[in-house]
Amino acid sequence: MLAAAATLAACGLGAKLLPERFAVNAPLAQLLFGRGVEVAPEDELQRILRVRDGFSIGVYADGLPNARFLRFTDAGDLLVSTPRSGRVWIVERDANGDGRADAARALLEDLDRPHGLDFHEGWLYVAEGSAVRRVRYDTTTRRTLGALEAVVTGLPDGGNHWTRTVRFGPDAWMYVSIGSSCNACIEEDPRRAALLRFRPDGSEGEVHATGLRNSVGFDWQPGTGDLYATDNGRDLLGDDLPPCELNRVVQGGFYGWPFAYGDRQPDPDLGDGREREIRDSIPPAHAFGAHNAPLGITFVRNPDAPEPLRGAALVALHGSWNRTAKDGYEVVTLHWTADGRIEERSFVSGFVHEGRAIGRPVDVAEGPDGAIYVSDDYAGAVYRIAWGATAGGAAATRGETRSAPHGDALAALPLADRDAARARGRALYEGHACYRCHETERADAGAVPVVLAGLAAKYDLAALDAYLAAPQPPMPLFPLEPAARRDLAAFLLMEHGD
Ligand code: HEC
Repeated sequence: MLAAAATLAACGLGAKLLPERFAVNAPLAQLLFGRGVEVAPEDELQRILRVRDGFSIGVYADGLPNARFLRFTDAGDLLVSTPRSGRVWIVERDANGDGRADAARALLEDLDRPHGLDFHEGWLYVAEGSAVRRVRYDTTTRRTLGALEAVVTGLPDGGNHWTRTVRFGPDAWMYVSIGSSCNACIEEDPRRAALLRFRPDGSEGEVHATGLRNSVGFDWQPGTGDLYATDNGRDLLGDDLPPCELNRVVQGGFYGWPFAYGDRQPDPDLGDGREREIRDSIPPAHAFGAHNAPLGITFVRNPDAPEPLRGAALVALHGSWNRTAKDGYEVVTLHWTADGRIEERSFVSGFVHEGRAIGRPVDVAEGPDGAIYVSDDYAGAVYRIAWGATAGGAAATRGETRSAPHGDALAALPLADRDAARARGRALYEGHACYRCHETERADAGAVPVVLAGLAAKYDLAALDAYLAAPQPPMPLFPLEPAARRDLAAFLLMEHGD
């Protein structure tokens, strides 16, 4: 990559105004070298990206060119597909708590453009260009067992939309999405621009829904069980048409393409004489901006998720390629309101910096630690977005590395509020049985207690709050509301400050 950067810079393609790491004309670099650019340094990212209040972002893993779809194993390791290199990676969980994955290695190699990933009954399923294959996976040894076996072959391949996504529904059917072969055309193969489904062994294949131009991401809403799929609208109708879509997909549903777009608007090229099909098509549940290219979608399932995420779906907007001004390039949350609407709110934005892309979000996954993980096929990275400080940030506040706070560690807490905060904090400390590991008298049998003392010399209120949001393993992470976590931190500083 350094050589590539040097060549491009020598050709005068570097942008002088941008920080050095962004100086490569990235789309050209990707075209020429078939791989992503380097991820921006973390402090640059934190400065440039805009993250929803209360969250912070860090680079969890990089050096994964073309990182596409994500799936967590039961042990908290993250699988990442990189179709261009034919690999599925295992990104090992962050056991040392520094906010970065501990290691990454190829789990599977020499695949045919692996993209979608899912687990079902001990099998890892991988969607490739024209097939779905599966292999036994052992969570504890982090190894596959035996050879890959094909469960579905002969899927329509190539054309405009070649990525295949596989995901198991709550009904234990295996769903596979197949995008259209073209921008706008009448397909010969009924399996194109459709969502298919199969039994886990690949039998009983059927077309589940049609008229879906390219539904790269789909997930089931907890509670309702409704299936929602993102869909990318067609090109060449100008900057602002048509909207990209979120569809609520029902069995046998027809979602309009190629005859209609958006809410039953006739397609200017193919809509003529198709009034009946257009009338019977199902309009989107939500319209994204034109050319935003929504890809991965995941519903937040953690009941203790921070309020801005609870019950929401996260969607990665890969961003426009054929729009005058770049749009998309962000991760959004969708919120189902009481009156039946879906509200879209920005979660992480700013992947276009001074007119150039520095990243393109692809898939979103919810980690077992409650953090949100986002893949980026442009920078070849996975970001971790955590409530409060990142684990990396919290680690930096630990005693050894952090200078003692000046003055009163509780300065941020008004005197009048301290007694009440202390009482609430004590109740939380008792309720969560923190003493099990922290008090000589009350420790669990066999446990070596970590006596809490001198905390005020190491942490102020904000720093201890951040520590509790991303504690140093093996200290467990407790699901606490921000206000409660602050009370607990205040209690600890008052009780164990000296
Ligand atoms: C299962 C055992 C366990 C439980 C339960 C536990 N902790 Fe800990 N905690 C640890 C360990 C181990 C460490 C030391 C981690 C390290 O830095 O290596 C620690 C560290 C800490 C620290 C940092 C101490 C310092 O000097 O920097 C604080 C603060 C803390 N725990 C608070 C709590 C609170 C509050 C609770 C209850 C909500 C709690 N812990 C529950 C195991 C536990």
